[in-house]
Amino acid sequence: MARELIVAIDGPSASGKSSAGTLVARRLGYLYVESGAFYRALGWKVRACGVDPADDAALQKLSETTVIDVVRTSNGAKILVDQRDVTDDLRTPEMSRIAAQIASNPLVREPMLKIQRAMANTGGVVMEGRDIGTVVFPQADVKFYLDADPGVRGKRRYQELAAKGLPVDLQTTIEEIMARDRKDMNRTVAPLRKADDAIAIDSTGLTLDEVVDRMVVAVERRRTAITR
Ligand code: CDP
Ligand code: CDP
Repeated sequence: MARELIVAIDGPSASGKSSAGTLVARRLGYLYVESGAFYRALGWKVRACGVDPADDAALQKLSETTVIDVVRTSNGAKILVDQRDVTDDLRTPEMSRIAAQIASNPLVREPMLKIQRAMANTGGVVMEGRDIGTVVFPQADVKFYLDADPGVRGKRRYQELAAKGLPVDLQTTIEEIMARDRKDMNRTVAPLRKADDAIAIDSTGLTLDEVVDRMVVAVERRRTAITR
């Protein structure tokens, strides 16, 4: 019997991690996990409770007591915070900012690490985020690092937010994702960086299907090597 793999995807904002990760997982019949949703969900709770994201004690208490659930649906997943469906509230520029702010705190990352590792203990998982191949699963079977030009990534994110009817502007969106990338790359704990053994894919001039095809080929190659 072939052992099922752990596939790690990291990269900066709007590099295509969740779109490609979802499709790769579907093609492989694997579970897809978007680790950023956990930071966004806790950020939602921080805001809902009026907690100062810089208040360590309050943040630690919230991260230990908040129950975050991911419920699979036919077209993706619902994110529940203390049983309330907050899925539609998580992908706003404000939630992105709060998520990145609290994600730089080790008191928040420690419990997240446990949850994320537990979700993949049987393999057969595609997990994406910022530190999956470096910290969460340094032994992942296949690692990818997705990237694209900041202007292209900013335009992708802008189009997504505008399609949802959010009041956004292209230049501000580009600046916001670049500021968040800098914050994610320069933090002390679990900074965003390419793992030495990750396969780098620059999707600037690639369609999503082309990216997914490359990733599936790499995973299948590894699967074959393991079963040989
Ligand atoms: O998860 P991450 O923030 O890395 O990016 P995403 O939300 O998956 O992708 C942002 C947008 O770029 C989505 O609307 C994708 O369909 C689009 N896109 C892409 O991901 N890859 C391409 N090669 C072209 C477009
Ligand atoms: O979709 P996008 O790439 O813009 O963001 P996301 O994956 O939802 O992550 C939101 C924020 O959570 C990131 O900017 C990081 O600060 C944090 N994050 C993290 O620190 N580690 C992860 N494994 C995933 C997300």
